[in-house]
Amino acid sequence: MRFQRSFVASVVIAAALTATGCGKKPADATASGSTTFTPAELAVFSPLPAQMEAKGVSLTDAKVALGRALYYENVLSQSHDMSCNSCHPLNAWGADGRKVSLGHDGKPGGRNAPTVYHAAGHVAQFWDGRAPDVEAQAKGPILNPVEMGMPDTVAVLAHLRGNAAYVASFRAAFPGDKQPVTYDNVGNAIGAFERRLLTPARWDKFLAGDSAALTVAERAGLRTFVNTGCQSCHLGAYMGGDRFMKAGQAIAWFSQADSGRFAVTKDANDLFFFKVQSLRNVEKTGPYFHDGSVASLNDAVRLMAHHQLGKELAPDQVQSIVTFLGALTGDLPLQYIGFPQKPQ
Ligand code: HEC
Ligand code: HEC
Repeated sequence: MRFQRSFVASVVIAAALTATGCGKKPADATASGSTTFTPAELAVFSPLPAQMEAKGVSLTDAKVALGRALYYENVLSQSHDMSCNSCHPLNAWGADGRKVSLGHDGKPGGRNAPTVYHAAGHVAQFWDGRAPDVEAQAKGPILNPVEMGMPDTVAVLAHLRGNAAYVASFRAAFPGDKQPVTYDNVGNAIGAFERRLLTPARWDKFLAGDSAALTVAERAGLRTFVNTGCQSCHLGAYMGGDRFMKAGQAIAWFSQADSGRFAVTKDANDLFFFKVQSLRNVEKTGPYFHDGSVASLNDAVRLMAHHQLGKELAPDQVQSIVTFLGALTGDLPLQYIGFPQKPQ
């Protein structure tokens, strides 16, 4: 709470500075305000990196190519009809558009599938952060009975080791390994592929100094976003993804069915904490929230202001933020995600 109050104060000061700086009074310093921004206001955001690197992870083209093939590989599912791409379709911004995903045999899972774009840059994986990185995460769904449903790693490796082209691809990807076709390396390769899943947007050009990259309406929406305080949680290169926060920080969340990070840490301080979702491409990745319970982005924004900040936004303020969020929609890397030549 203390943080929020001093934050609001700093926004007001920044808005005042902007106003004097350009010599005219903003029409409404709290609701709409100036559509120019001080460097200090923008400093919490940053443009996308070229790839999402991690200490100790080497990204080679051979590893990425293998990861791409495995990402699209139906043989990694029990019924041979499902791949990572089934629930995270790369040509549809990496999310399946369902409330919760349907797994192997059409069984529903418990949570909404977040996008795989930019996930590699997040502090941890899953809504509750139970996997540390994309390499570890990728080993989960293949064996998850409500996802790809493979019985065990032995079955997965039997398929891959029985395929000479895959064996050659693993050897090229992991040249130092005596036995390169391991379950860990399945995760390592898919993770490497994911570390280059980025969608640069007009927002990145704006942050690089081209203020005309955003329309006036989008800049007005950014003003509403900033003045409301959304960037106290949605910040950085991914507009989120860098921390866990309580769903219902200001006013109790509308559903208490999922205890979030508490289930991972068993720490009462983590009750109802979830990873702050990235807002990149958010207009394309509904329905929203960990349970996919909210279909409209306008409703999601209104609920965020209410539950996270204790603020009631008017419909035009909500729309203004949604207009800004549209500027976070990037270009799909069509060549990079092109369906790979399947190893024969
Ligand atoms: C049946 C649908 C389904 C399949 C198949 C599937 N996923 Fe997911 N994925 C999900 C759901 C649902 C979640 C969220 C689960 C949670 O947070 O508890 C998720 C979460 C993730 C995340 C975390 C993203 C983030 O922002 O935290 C990544 C990365 C990911 N999946 C990659 C993959 C990869 C790689 C594969 C293939 C090996 C795969 N998924 C297969 C449904 C699926
Ligand atoms: C106190 C931290 C916090 C603040 C402030 C905050 N958010 Fe969030 N936001 C979160 C968390 C945590 C989630 C994930 C909640 C969940 O699904 O359980 C989230 C999720 C979202 C989602 C859904 C994303 C998705 O893919 O499902 C949207 C949209 C969103 N926030 C927009 C906003 C906007 C706009 C504001 C300002 C009005 C805002 N948030 C303020 C923490 C915050």
